[in-house]
Amino acid sequence: MTAREALRIAELRLAAAGVPSPRVDAELLVAHLLGVKRSAVHLDPEVDVDGLEPLLSRREDREPLAYVIGEWGFRGLVLKTDRRALVPRPETETVVERALALIRDAPQPRVLDIGVGSGAIALSIADEHSGARVTAVDISSDALALARENAERLGLDVALRRGGIDAAAEGWDLVVSNPPYVESLEELDPELTFEPSAALLGGALHGEIARAARTTWLVLEVGDDQASQVADELAAAGYADITITKDLSGRERVVEGRRG
Ligand SMILES: C[S@@+](CC[C@H](N)C(=O)[O-])C[C@H]1O[C@@H](n2cnc3c(N)ncnc32)[C@H](O)[C@@H]1O
Repeated sequence: MTAREALRIAELRLAAAGVPSPRVDAELLVAHLLGVKRSAVHLDPEVDVDGLEPLLSRREDREPLAYVIGEWGFRGLVLKTDRRALVPRPETETVVERALALIRDAPQPRVLDIGVGSGAIALSIADEHSGARVTAVDISSDALALARENAERLGLDVALRRGGIDAAAEGWDLVVSNPPYVESLEELDPELTFEPSAALLGGALHGEIARAARTTWLVLEVGDDQASQVADELAAAGYADITITKDLSGRERVVEGRRG
């Protein structure tokens, strides 16, 4: 099958399956099979494309594209992605941006990421702040294994260990976390059912982290409509300079504070 045919067939079938961005996904699938960037996928429409069917049918079943392709871009990194951990989201890039802004002038900040998942936050901070000494914990040994593979692939030094919120009490310059914050998977995109439920479903972890942390700075990702409640929890736990930052789609996504 030529690239032109592959793109047309994939777009039609993904649209029929209800995939929200069928053209983009078709281009990314074909680009992956050709080993080129998405921007180059139309350059040679007659080139042969092999192996479309198994990947296309997984995406038709609404498996996240990042799992089907097996890797995903996050800030400057390309992370291995599979069902062991959450797909890194663009909104989490804003979490990293805020974390880096707070530790920018610290030569060797001690940073803890709670709930490392694929490693998106911890590895980006290690990548973008050469002096940062980053530790990351997760209760999921599957997620930790994937984060470890990503750290090795990228040659980035992050201390990874099994652990939970109590690690926050060890004393840090910055504690950062994107904890599970979805209340129910009902009525959400079918793609979410492929991701580990322990990475998505949860409640009240923000307040728990805020109360447990011994840290100068705390940076937390929050769900839609959770920001003001989490900001109140930080205030109640004694944080000052509490700030809410919107993500690129304009939603209040990150709450940060400084231990007063
Ligand atoms: C929303 S995912 C975030 C993954 C990654 N940091 C990211 O932003 O893409 C939440 C992660 O927290 C982990 N987790 C859930 N409860 C936890 C807890 N009590 N302590 C530590 N990690 C936890 C899950 O296993 C999952 O990997």
